[in-house]
This record gives sequence, C-alpha cells and structure tokens, in this order.
Amino acid sequence: MEALTLVLLPFLFLVVWILSTGKSLCVRNSITPKTYPVIGCLLSFYTNRNRLLDWYTELLTESRSGTVIINRLAARRTVVTANPSNVEYILKTNFDNYPKGKPFTEILGDFLGGGIFNVDGKLWVKQRRLATHDFTPRSLREYVDVLRNEVEDELLSFLDAAAQDYQPFDLQELLRRFTFNIVCIVFLGIDRCSLNPSSPVSEFDRAFQTAAAVSAGRGSAPLSFVWKLKRLVGFGSEKDLRHAVQKVHSCVNEIIRDKKINTKSDFLSRLIVAGESDEAVRDMVISVVMAGRDTTSAVTTRLFSLISSHKTTECELVNEIRSVKDITGGFDYESLKKLSLLKACLCEVMRLYPPVPWDSKHALTDDRLPDGTPVRAGDRVTYFPYGMGRMEELWGKDLDEFKPNRWFESYDHKTRVLKKVNPFKFPVFQAGPRVCLGEEMAYLQMKYVVASMLHRFQFEPIGMDKPVFVPMLTAHMAGGMRVRVSRRDGSR
Ligand code: HEM
Repeated sequence: MEALTLVLLPFLFLVVWILSTGKSLCVRNSITPKTYPVIGCLLSFYTNRNRLLDWYTELLTESRSGTVIINRLAARRTVVTANPSNVEYILKTNFDNYPKGKPFTEILGDFLGGGIFNVDGKLWVKQRRLATHDFTPRSLREYVDVLRNEVEDELLSFLDAAAQDYQPFDLQELLRRFTFNIVCIVFLGIDRCSLNPSSPVSEFDRAFQTAAAVSAGRGSAPLSFVWKLKRLVGFGSEKDLRHAVQKVHSCVNEIIRDKKINTKSDFLSRLIVAGESDEAVRDMVISVVMAGRDTTSAVTTRLFSLISSHKTTECELVNEIRSVKDITGGFDYESLKKLSLLKACLCEVMRLYPPVPWDSKHALTDDRLPDGTPVRAGDRVTYFPYGMGRMEELWGKDLDEFKPNRWFESYDHKTRVLKKVNPFKFPVFQAGPRVCLGEEMAYLQMKYVVASMLHRFQFEPIGMDKPVFVPMLTAHMAGGMRVRVSRRDGSR
C-alpha cells in the first residue's frame, strides 16, 4: 500500500500543479483558450471535441482581433482566424508562405492522392490550368443544358411521384444523389444512379462516402498518432478506408479504360487526350468529384429547412421565380442570372452554414499576421468561414437571424441590387489564387434546383426541431431532413 502511495503521490502532485497553473493567455490581440503546462489546452479541446465549430466561434468572439491560438499536447500549434485582413494575407498577399502543406495532404493523401485538392506548387498550378477549361462561360451554358435534362426528367419526376404518395422521404439524401449524378455526368461522362433515397446507392457512391467520412475523421481526431497507428495495423475505420479507396480506384480506373475507347467532350476525355498518366487522371477526377459532390446539396437542403420557418421569404422567392420567365421547359442561363433574391438566400444560408466551415494552410516560414499574431514555421493556420459568419463586427447585431435582405445594396419588390461583398470577409468559396473553381457552377446548380422545386412544390419538414450541423469534409445536417412534399397548385 505504502509503495503504491509513493508511486501515486508525485503523479497526483503533477496533475494538481498542471491544473492549478492553467490560464488564458493573450498574445497581442489574439487569445488562447485555458492552457496548462505540458498538455496545453488538451482538456478544453477534448471537452469541446463534438462542438469545435461553436467553441472556436466563442473564443473568436472574445478575442479583440478575431484570432485564437490553440496549443495542445501532440498537435501542432494552430492559429484560427476570423479576421478578414488576416484571411486576405494568408490566401492572397502572402499566398506562397501558406500552402496546404504535408500535414494536410497526409490526412487526405490515401483518398485524394495527387489530385488538385491535395497538392501545392507546380503540381497544383498544372492541374488548375487543366481544370480551368471546364469552367469557362461556354462550359457553364452547356452545364445549364445538363441541369435542365436532369432536373426536368429525373428530379421533378421523383417529386411528382412523392407528392402523389405523400410519403415522407429524406430531402438531403435526394439532393445529395442528384449532385453526385450531375458531377458524374459532367466530369466523368457516366450514367446516373437512382435518385430514390430509399434505394441502395451505387458501389462507387458508397465507397466515396466512406472514404470521405473516414478521412474527415482523421482531420478532427484529438491525437493524430491514433489514426496513424490504426492505419499501420489495418484496424477499424482505417481498414474501411483502405477498402473504400481500393473500390473508388477500381471504379475510376474502369471508367478511364472505357473512356479511352470512346473519348467525348467531357472533362475526363480532355485529361486523357492531354496525355496525363492514368494515376494522375484518376487522382484529378477523384478530387473534382469530391469538390462538386455534396457541397451544393448541403446548402440547398439547409435553404429548404430555413424557409420552412420563414414563410414570407418563401412567398417572395416563389414570386421572383415566376416573374423571371414562363418556366415551362426549364430555365436558361440568362433567367437564372436574374434570380437575385434566390442568390441572396443562398449567400445567407452559406454565411450561417458554410459547406466548408474551416480550411487550413501550413506556414513555411516564421511570419506575423496583419493583426500582430506571430506565426511560426510549421504552424497550422486556419481561416474559419463558420465563425466569420457569426462575428458581430462583420454582420451586425442581427447576425443570428436569417435575413437575405442584408445582401442587397437597396431593395424593393422590383429592383434588388446585390452588394459586392469582400471575398475575404465571406470566404465560403475560399478566395485569392486558389478560390473554388466551381463557384459559378455551384450557384447555377443551386438556383436551378431550388427554383424548379419551389415553383412547383411545397415541402413540410417532419420532426425537425434544431437540425445539427456536422463538419465532415463537407458539412451537412445530421440525420438528413425528412419531408413530405405536395404540389403548390393543390393537385395530386
Ligand atoms: C456551394 C458549393 C461550393 C462551395 C461552398 C465550395 C467551396 C470550396 C472551397 C472552400 C474550396 C477550397 C478548398 C481547399 O483548398 O481546401 C474549393 C475548392 C475547389 N472547388 Fe469548390 N465549392 C463548391 C462547389 C464546387 C463545385 C460544384 C465544383 C465543381 C466541380 C467545385 C470545384 C472546386 C475545385 C476544383 C476546387 C479546387 C481549387 C484549387 O485548389 O485550386 N466546387 N471549393
């Protein structure tokens, strides 16, 4: 017994000493959460691990400059900022000092390999140049034609049948499948899968979902050596990841093989014709599918959820959609551009629920951010759109409210002029040289889908009090969104 006491006593002293010396530090204008010797802020981090978005936001609200420094045992020093001047500096002014870096590419490397999403430097420049061809104004007009076919023939047909049955279904899953189909058609030139949320997903889709979910889990693990060890021994989620990645690779390799026999005008055909190696083509394709897969569906689902409790906005939206043109036969590029209230609603949804709520870079050399925060070589530097959407200095006292009109310079029922917003204050599509290539495409798709659905149908959410926002690689609503749908004109 005495021997045990002798062993335990120093350990207890150490714990008491660590806890009693904990303090919140102020580094110039930025703050750190309660930090202890040796373990740093590991305790608060662990306590808040399931609500990191809100924890960071609370810390940032307390900080004078909108920057916090997170130091914890076994993790690299992390600077999280919601300060637009810092964001501009990281993403543009000193872009070269803030690549994604090895710690980021290591997390996603097994899944995304050397695709555009996961590389820096020359490799990134080359892929960006190649991909840019698919986002020109001409491609965007062709894209609207694809949307028209898929929305009119598939999505609206599904909703017609669902309105007749009046049976509940998961709207988030429906929209997720729709965007997955669109990205597969446009970028891979392959056929669509069933939209019906209750039918099984394709093997490709399932493997993609598993690989994305496990990779995201690596990024938010409190101690990174745990997933590394699991990978080493091929255990648990890491075993699932390995299988999922093998499946994604074999599906994409098969698509590439078929495409080589029958090249067309899609993205994949262009990569093959450009003479890239099979592995490079495979990784590039996986990155683009990843980028375009469930970002837009997360936003449109949340929009339906928000307008179900903002009926005036819903009526105004329906009026705007009807005023744009007679939409029998679908929308064209020009009519979509005119939907300014819808654009404002989408921006407002993304301010509150950005599909990419945080995004990190890694500093190459020591530096100092414009607000005075010191950065050390190797630090993780995170810009934080979720927190930025919730800063009073940026959006005013009504920041918690869903208010699409805040996006207008001036508005009445006839003219609504959208404000030009500083992209570093609202970096939901990132900003600077590495800004999202699909921004314009995303708006076209979201407008097309929401306008066509709202014009004809109304949606009644079932059993949703406060939907939980989960930050995976792309954030979404936990548990989906169950709805019943009915025709707006009352017919069955
Ligand atoms: C609401 C929808 C979308 C949002 C909020 C969004 C947001 C973002 C963000 C934050 C990044 C930077 C990620 C990073 O570097 O870690 C990004 C990159 C990218 N996005 Fe999007 N995105 C959306 C839709 C799309 C769509 C539909 C496509 C089309 C395929 C697309 C293609 C890309 C590509 C290719 C990149 C990589 C750019 C580069 O690294 O140079 N995105 N997006």
